[in-house]
Amino acid sequence: MCGIAGCSGGKRGIKSVMNILTRLEYRGYDSSGIAYVENNDLCVIKSLGNLQCLRREVSENTNVDTVIGHTRWATHGKPSIQNAHPHLDASGRLALVHNGIIENYQLLRSGLSKQGILCNTETDTEVIAKLIGAAIVEKEETGAIINAKTVLTVLAKQLGFMKGSYAIAFLFRPLPNYIFFAKNGSPLVVGQGQGATFLASDENAIKENCTGVLRLKDGDIGYINYENICIYDKKLNKKKVHLSKIDQDVEAFNLSGYSSFLNKEIAEGIGGALKTLRRAKKEIASTLPDNIFLTDFDLHITACGTALHAGRIAKYLIERELRIPVSIDFASEFKYKKPILSNKSICIFLSQSGETADTLGCVELAKSCGATTIGITNVKGSRIAEAVDYCLYTYAGVEISVASTKAYLAQLALIYALVFYLAGVKGKKLSFSLHDITYILHRLENRNYLSSLNKYLNLIKQQSSLYFVGRGIDYFVAMEGALKLKEICYIHCEAFAGGELKHGSLALINDSSVVVAILTQKSLIDKMLNNIHELNSRGAKVILLTPFTKLAPEVFGLIKLERCRDMVSPFCSIKPLQELTLYVAQKKGIDPDKPRNLAKSVTVE
Ligand code: M6R
Repeated sequence: MCGIAGCSGGKRGIKSVMNILTRLEYRGYDSSGIAYVENNDLCVIKSLGNLQCLRREVSENTNVDTVIGHTRWATHGKPSIQNAHPHLDASGRLALVHNGIIENYQLLRSGLSKQGILCNTETDTEVIAKLIGAAIVEKEETGAIINAKTVLTVLAKQLGFMKGSYAIAFLFRPLPNYIFFAKNGSPLVVGQGQGATFLASDENAIKENCTGVLRLKDGDIGYINYENICIYDKKLNKKKVHLSKIDQDVEAFNLSGYSSFLNKEIAEGIGGALKTLRRAKKEIASTLPDNIFLTDFDLHITACGTALHAGRIAKYLIERELRIPVSIDFASEFKYKKPILSNKSICIFLSQSGETADTLGCVELAKSCGATTIGITNVKGSRIAEAVDYCLYTYAGVEISVASTKAYLAQLALIYALVFYLAGVKGKKLSFSLHDITYILHRLENRNYLSSLNKYLNLIKQQSSLYFVGRGIDYFVAMEGALKLKEICYIHCEAFAGGELKHGSLALINDSSVVVAILTQKSLIDKMLNNIHELNSRGAKVILLTPFTKLAPEVFGLIKLERCRDMVSPFCSIKPLQELTLYVAQKKGIDPDKPRNLAKSVTVE
């Protein structure tokens, strides 16, 4: 993953790059660093920990105009100052940042060592810096003049030896106001500002400073300096630079009075779902070809993490309500299981970021099998959005917190809209209406569960393991509740389908167990109450989320949910579970936006 940043021009280059890195921090935050040339010295400052730590070490008001920066999510080598980027070439004149993975780095590293050039870190990145640096030295030794063109020639040649994905940016001390870059696989965007140019892993990070931006294509190499953005293809043919105007959503990056982005984004969830629902009907009809679901087809859903949990609800609804079989897989499994796909297959890929490498890999696989591909993503122009045949958008707004909350609700909204569309095409009647959804979303708009959850927070905070149970559609919400709590609160959580308890998992339950149960399905009340009895009998403390409080179930804790149609209940049951995660994280003193070991966009397999 990792985020890379660059700025050339203006007097406050360090400040600009630190601001860009702040917006890229969702991509990784185990260490960070910057590099710039000052008084003909190449200065590199690195720090372990999140950006706050680097901020303490740099002077943002230093008068330097050209700076590169990096925020890291470790792939090769543990988080450490040594492994943090930028990495240097052997001459100490070139500093380079990288996002991606160089798969053949071991081979390249041993090649370098045979030439007497040793790497000092465990990273794959250092190899890139050392290779380019050594090739420039070789050029110098032939008497060649080293200018931007020569550096690009060297860069293009050296990239030919690398296998894998990369977005790189580097400074070369003799050309102090140039930032050279290359992209293959990992995202990279360049932007033009007033008297300055920028680059970053994502356009949101620079758009505030820019009048126009351009997402680079795989194979692009080039440089930015004070005034210019120059882009070439692999063969060094110059490309025309067409910058596009950008929508500004500056508010998304402000906490606006909330204690964390997680807190803010949970609050924004219902609004995003309503907006998605409002737009989806028209957009689905205008995006998908009329006949797409009219001929014979087999349907597949692929995603990761929270997006997969939304996908599980899609499968449940499509099968139960429309009697159309759906296969669902983790993207990381789908790609390698030799899935049965043909030109009759329709594959749906759910991804908030639209950048998840596992999911993107599946899109490519599905296309190579002749399948029709549909993306559901929250980010226009993202790699998945561009790769699929048809893309449907959710309107959750920029999601910053690593835990996906508002995007999940927007994905649900889009899924329900798609189910309506499919029902229309197939002439089927559903057990719920769009009005049922908008009605319940409006009821949930100002609903907050703090007072109901408060008395259980200390208990949950103390748990090292926590179980979630549900049946039917509730099971999939239980899965998402468990993922949230494990991701943000570092509590081992597992979700069980109620009926499965006695087939093994019940053995885990004793009088110190805490179980969060969800019961929203009228037809499953008796069955679920039986499961709760089984848990009670083993001494578990069951906290039940249900609209059926009049049943007065014998439980340790009861959280009243809004009453709605059975198939619409995920909107109601997920809200208190998302809030539970936030409050427990607050009790534990964990930064809910940046859970350890994780990053928002998982752009490596
Ligand atoms: O951007 P994507 O929706 O493709 O991301 C998929 C998962 O990485 C993501 O949902 C992850 O599980 C979240 N951090 C969960 O909160």
